[in-house]
Parts: sequence; structure tokens; C-alpha cells
Amino acid sequence: MEKDGKHFHHGKSSREILDPSRVLETIELKEGDVFLDAGAGDGYMSIAASSIVGEKGKVYAVDIYEESMNILKEEIENEKIDNIEPIVADITAKIPVKDKTIDKCYMGNVLHGFVENGEVDKVMKEIRRIVKPGGTFNIIEFKKVENAPGPPFHVKISPKQVRKIVEEHNFEVKVVEEVGEHHYGVIAIKGKYD
Ligand SMILES: C[S@@+](CC[C@H](N)C(=O)[O-])C[C@H]1O[C@@H](n2cnc3c(N)ncnc32)[C@H](O)[C@@H]1O
Repeated sequence: MEKDGKHFHHGKSSREILDPSRVLETIELKEGDVFLDAGAGDGYMSIAASSIVGEKGKVYAVDIYEESMNILKEEIENEKIDNIEPIVADITAKIPVKDKTIDKCYMGNVLHGFVENGEVDKVMKEIRRIVKPGGTFNIIEFKKVENAPGPPFHVKISPKQVRKIVEEHNFEVKVVEEVGEHHYGVIAIKGKYD
């Protein structure tokens, strides 16, 4: 969807077409991890992550769209989940968490929008700042195929494009994998001494 010439991607969820267990297994999320869901939408991936990281871990769900964070707040109150912190913030400006505190940063179906809007460098600077040395940045995107779920074909991005973006920002690509009928994932590692 276009708004004021910008790719507009609020209020959408991949809940129905992406299996959170498969994604979280692929990124090797484990008990005690600190997980950040960047552009969390309704936060279904954060909910799934919260039960894996457990009480020793922590989940930050960040989205610019207040309405989405309110939906998540309601769900975590109803389910009595106490290890998720929903945060309304613009991740192209500032992610309100401290430097080098995140074990696994997840960005599901969001990066293509930043590519389209020319905002990749601003976001990547923040991601690099918050991920721990040796931690990972995990990008899930729609496969670049026509007549399939996701944004218009010209907005979809390929694994090659994602690889280039993360490598330009000093992450090392560990693996590119299929994570569902319509999705692939790129796992990128931040150097141990970064
Ligand atoms: C296509 S949705 C994907 C939501 C979720 N990750 C999923 O897979 O269901 C893109 C999300 O990114 C959020 N978003 C877009 N720009 C953002 C920004 N600058 N800062 C934080 N969130 C943003 C939107 O509000 C929206 O919830």
C-alpha cells in the first residue's frame, strides 16, 4: 500500500501464513535469550517467543503503530504473560533499549518497506547498536515471486538483496533458509568482538 509516496505497512500480520515454531526453531531461540521483535505488528511472534525464553529471558516487541501495541498489551494481560515489553517507537530513529543487550533480533516482513522507503541505513545502525557481540539479526521476508502473499512484486526483496544489506552493515550471513511456503529467512551474526 502506498501513502504520501511511501510504502505504508501498518496493521498487517503474517499470523495466518507463517508458523512461529518453525521460525523460532530456525533462529535457535532458547531459554534465557533476550529477543527483540522489530516491527512486531500484532506481536504473535513475540507471544510465541515469550514461552521459549521463559522467565529468565525477555521479549521486547517494538512497533511504530500504537494500535498494534495496544492489541498486544491486551493479549499479554489476558494471558498473564509478564516477560514481554511492548514498546511504541520508530525503529528508523531510536530503538529504546540499551547498546549490546539483544541476543536475537527478529524482523519479520518489515525490511522490504525500509528498502522501498530508503530507510535501511537508519534502521541497520540501530540494529547493530542493540545486538550483543555474537548475537544474531534474523530477517524473514516474502519469497520474491509473483501472485503470492506479501507486497507487490517490485517491493519484494530477494535473499541476495538481504545478504548485501546485512553484509554492508558488518553482519556475517550464517544461513539462508526456507521457513514456510511463502517465506525465507536470513540469519546474520554480529562478530564476537564487535
Ligand atoms: C507487514 S507488517 C509485519 C508485522 C509483523 N512483523 C508480522 O510479520 O506480522 C510491518 C510492521 O512494521 C511496522 N513498522 C513500519 N515502519 C516502522 C518503523 N519505522 N518503526 C517501527 N515499526 C514500523 C508496521 O507498523 C507494521 O506493524
